Amino acid sequence: MSDDLYAVVGNPISHSKSPKIHSLFASQTGEAVDYTAIQAPEDGFRETVSEFFARGGKGLNVTVPFKEQAWAMADRRAARAEKAGAANTLYRDSDGQLVADNTDGQGLVSDLTANHGLDLAGLNILVLGAGGAVRGVLGPILSRRPARLVIANRTVAKADALVALFADEAGDTELAACGFEQPTQPFDLIINGTSASLKGDLPPLAPSVIGSDTVVYDMMYSATTTTFNQWALDQGASRAIDGLGMLVEQAAESFRIWRGVSPQTDAVIKTLRE
Ligand code: ATR
Repeated sequence: MSDDLYAVVGNPISHSKSPKIHSLFASQTGEAVDYTAIQAPEDGFRETVSEFFARGGKGLNVTVPFKEQAWAMADRRAARAEKAGAANTLYRDSDGQLVADNTDGQGLVSDLTANHGLDLAGLNILVLGAGGAVRGVLGPILSRRPARLVIANRTVAKADALVALFADEAGDTELAACGFEQPTQPFDLIINGTSASLKGDLPPLAPSVIGSDTVVYDMMYSATTTTFNQWALDQGASRAIDGLGMLVEQAAESFRIWRGVSPQTDAVIKTLRE
């Protein structure tokens, strides 16, 4: 019998690490998985998804710029995807219904907690950005019960909107929105979810948000230290982590949803770093 078909869909897609990650998971677990990358036309995402499942495909990861469309076209959504407004994982259930899930937030939390030993409970956290990437991770972060979570964004109204959207998941966490310049006290953890550093830009933060115990996490990754992480280290941050672990952890969570098997991630992260 041939291997089960999976793929990541995006545009562009040629630089995606997902095929490598999933093939490493498949060989490690012995699962019969054939995982490829598909570039969908900008205006042809739905057709690409339909065609993939029509030819027997079992599951898809979805990346930029199609996560919102993946969410919208699903028949059913996992609770964590519902609030995220975006999906990175699609599959068909036993009734043939298209199900959307979002494993990005779980991926971030797993990387922070399991791989980097941070307990988010009681922490004072600053999240930078209020776009799709941040919306996708707020629920899983709040579920770990930080003491305070401040969302800072260039367009403050978008941060305000996220505070309103996630108020019902905040529990005892103090949830607040502001502009980048406003916070001046040090945070325990600062998570960069803006796309600013993709362009080499930096959010205009007060250097005093970085204390000697501050850990920073950039949701993007690069072969060298990211612009944001380098800035934070220059201000005296204790540790700077990039998003490679998050990428591998969100993939592992998708693999677990599809195959019912949890791959080991540490060796895969190490291989990708080399
Ligand atoms: P994504 O899916 O990556 O989150 P997005 O929804 O377009 O993409 O959101 C991009 C985020 O990065 C937003 O928070 C955006 O700020 P605005 O809401 O004010 O647009 C932020 N961002 C992008 N470029 C930035 C820059 N040069 N400086 C600061 N923030 C920036």
